[in-house]
Amino acid sequence: MSTLLIENVTYKYRNSTTAAVKSASCAFEPGRLYAIIGPSGSGKSTLLSMLAGLDLPSEGKVQYGGKSLADMDLDRYRREDISMIFQAFQLFPLLTVLENVCYPMELTGISPKDARPRAQELLLRVGITQEQMKRFPSHLSGGEQQRVAIARSLASGAKTFLADEPTGNLDVANTDNIMEILRSLAREGYCVIVVTHDAEVAAAADSVYRMTDGVLTAE
Ligand SMILES: Nc1ncnc2c1ncn2[C@@H]1O[C@H](COP(=O)(O)OP(=O)(O)OP(=O)(O)O)[C@@H](O)[C@H]1O
Ligand SMILES: [Mg+2]
Repeated sequence: MSTLLIENVTYKYRNSTTAAVKSASCAFEPGRLYAIIGPSGSGKSTLLSMLAGLDLPSEGKVQYGGKSLADMDLDRYRREDISMIFQAFQLFPLLTVLENVCYPMELTGISPKDARPRAQELLLRVGITQEQMKRFPSHLSGGEQQRVAIARSLASGAKTFLADEPTGNLDVANTDNIMEILRSLAREGYCVIVVTHDAEVAAAADSVYRMTDGVLTAE
């Protein structure tokens, strides 16, 4: 499994005078849960989008498994190496819960016959019942919807799991539940990186980094 490394990463949005991320360096290892905390606008999501290969840095580099993302096929990196979830769960409203998890697998060429049992296994793993799998996402609670989003993003088999404010819409009990799932992924060898405003969420992490005006520091 591969380390995700950032080296002196700076990111400047077009038309913007100041950089949103300023010379950030850090190594994210498999088997650990990382939290990135900091106020609104400090650059957390911008950093995550570079880790996800959605954008390349203006300066510095992002490396995965010793290779610079700038030299990699980014579509493939995003598809095979990175799983990502967001505050808004972004499930497909017109597909059932089970179909939500099957669909991305089928897009990668897995047959519906193989995708179904794999999707069921992933959903059971995050505590979604067979009965809930038949419902539409709007008929689940927020915490349950986020668990479906986790199962769906695990379907790709990617070993780096990025989460941008995954508990931002959830109450304390659901937040604890999601963090326990993310912790168990880290124990299984995933590299899990969670962006959050919430100090309580960060308390569940193995390592905590703080973003302040684009500057990343270890806590
Ligand atoms: N597309 C964009 N174009 C220009 N500036 C942007 C763009 N997206 C974000 N920014 C700016 O970059 C800075 C960092 O934004 P970013 O979204 O990374 O913050 P954040 O820490 O994730 O905040 P939040 O906690 O509110 O999600 C902010 O000043 C923001 O206004
Ligand atoms: Mg953000």
